[in-house]
Amino acid sequence: MIICIPEESEPSEKRIAISPENVAAFAKLGYAVRVEAGAGESANFPDSIYESAGATIVSDREEIWSQTDLLLKIDPPTMEEATMIREGATLISFAYPARNEDLLKVLGERKINFLGMDCVPRISRAQSMDALSSMANVAGYRAVVEAAHQFGRFFTGQITAAGKVPPAKILVIGAGVAGLAAIGAARNMGAVVRAFDTRPAVKDEVKSLGGEFLELDFEEDGAGSGGYAKVMSKEFIEAEMKLFAEQAEDVDVIITTAMIPGKKSPVLITEDMVKSMKSGSVIVDLAAEGGGNCELTEPGESKVVHGVNILGYTDLPSRLPTQSSRLYGNNLVKLVNLLGKADEFSINQEDDVIRGALVLDEGILSWPPPKVEVSQQPTDPKKESQPVSEEKEAGGFSIFSPGLMLALLSALLLTLGWKGDNEFLDQLTVLVLSCFVGYMVVWNVTPALHTPLMSVTNAISGIIIIGGLVFSTGPEPWADPKGILAGVAILFATINIFGGFFVSHRMLRMFRKK
Ligand code: NAI
Repeated sequence: MIICIPEESEPSEKRIAISPENVAAFAKLGYAVRVEAGAGESANFPDSIYESAGATIVSDREEIWSQTDLLLKIDPPTMEEATMIREGATLISFAYPARNEDLLKVLGERKINFLGMDCVPRISRAQSMDALSSMANVAGYRAVVEAAHQFGRFFTGQITAAGKVPPAKILVIGAGVAGLAAIGAARNMGAVVRAFDTRPAVKDEVKSLGGEFLELDFEEDGAGSGGYAKVMSKEFIEAEMKLFAEQAEDVDVIITTAMIPGKKSPVLITEDMVKSMKSGSVIVDLAAEGGGNCELTEPGESKVVHGVNILGYTDLPSRLPTQSSRLYGNNLVKLVNLLGKADEFSINQEDDVIRGALVLDEGILSWPPPKVEVSQQPTDPKKESQPVSEEKEAGGFSIFSPGLMLALLSALLLTLGWKGDNEFLDQLTVLVLSCFVGYMVVWNVTPALHTPLMSVTNAISGIIIIGGLVFSTGPEPWADPKGILAGVAILFATINIFGGFFVSHRMLRMFRKK
């Protein structure tokens, strides 16, 4: 089978679908790779590097389109290109099916199998093929570089003989893939970074990158389906805009990335907010393609309004063409891997990822695909991750309720062990209380804190073992209820410690390279 890589026809497009490193990966799968002459030039990949990697360079543009089994590119083909592609071939590129109806019609007539890189579902298994995320990552980084280029000061703070320089303050709106990349890049350049997102779940990620997560006193979770956010209520948008109005007066740079797929970008920065910003400030509006998060953004353009630079570039990944081509090429290799080796190539619609990405199946429209469950944090883990027993739902009391179990266990121990002995009663009270506190603490800890929790419980288990040993001394500890309790405590604490080691060992093995 022949894979062809044409030169991108959009004049501002500097990327190429695959990098020279990907040629070997395709050859390993049995494909012959042909690259249009000069296609990689603007991404700093000259023909000679593709040739030495094993690709054939083809100068005839028509040949690239008409003699291909699998055509890999970045932007959707133009109408003219769509008529050039060999009938029955497979095409993989960005598709944007919702806004490319006419193009799909032409490709449909030519019985093309069309897989859209933007349609790859956002599920964990497809992460390595998620080109939207790879490109958003590049765009987030580049947004910071563009902002730094326009901004008249350092991003980092300095104390020099010539004077004190305060660090730049940056507000990032929307902490998705692009937003997090922007936070990381801006922090690395020494800026003070604040971020806001409608999904409180990203707070820890923002903090781990060194940013400050701004919060609203408003109860509404923005987590939606498909790994994306949902449209927020009017009241929420008003509340967040009040926050942005306060921030606009203080910060030097605003990077906006807020979007909900398939919807117009919400306007979050008004002209009044722009007016209130210091002269020389910068707004980089990554959501420009969807209309922009700033009222004054002009998609694809940069302009200065009220002394503020407003950048609405929609080609940020193409402004880092070498990096973007490498990442996009890697995404393609993974997707082609899923389609199979050259001699067993098939579009297996049983596979969620392939089905999600399939826009045209031998020319027949197969978009939108059926919904796929995504591996996303449930909105309310307590509500969604634990099955609710029928008794509880009916307002009754489950026989498995931990409180009742504990009460029954205490009654049993009391019956077995108490012979008017106050010391026994004291110890039983301590045991019951510690079981209760332990249960409440462990069950209410968020998963992110399980590792530190494990070390704390191991330390507590150590103390229990020592306590148990102290109590189980004596001539016949097994004849004494205290001795029996001590033995049980030692047993459970030992299970906890060794169980912890076992689980840690298994987890470490998962991260070890084979
Ligand atoms: P994403 O879906 O991962 O992130 C968007 C984030 O915005 C989400 O975390 C979401 O919760 C948040 N959000 C949605 N509504 C919000 C609101 N009202 N207030 C605050 N936060 C809100 O998307 P990704 O991949 O990070 O892309 C972000 C934007 O960047 C998109 O608009 C995308 O089209 C654009 N993009 C632009 C490029 C360019 O060259 N300009 C290149 C690549 C992506």
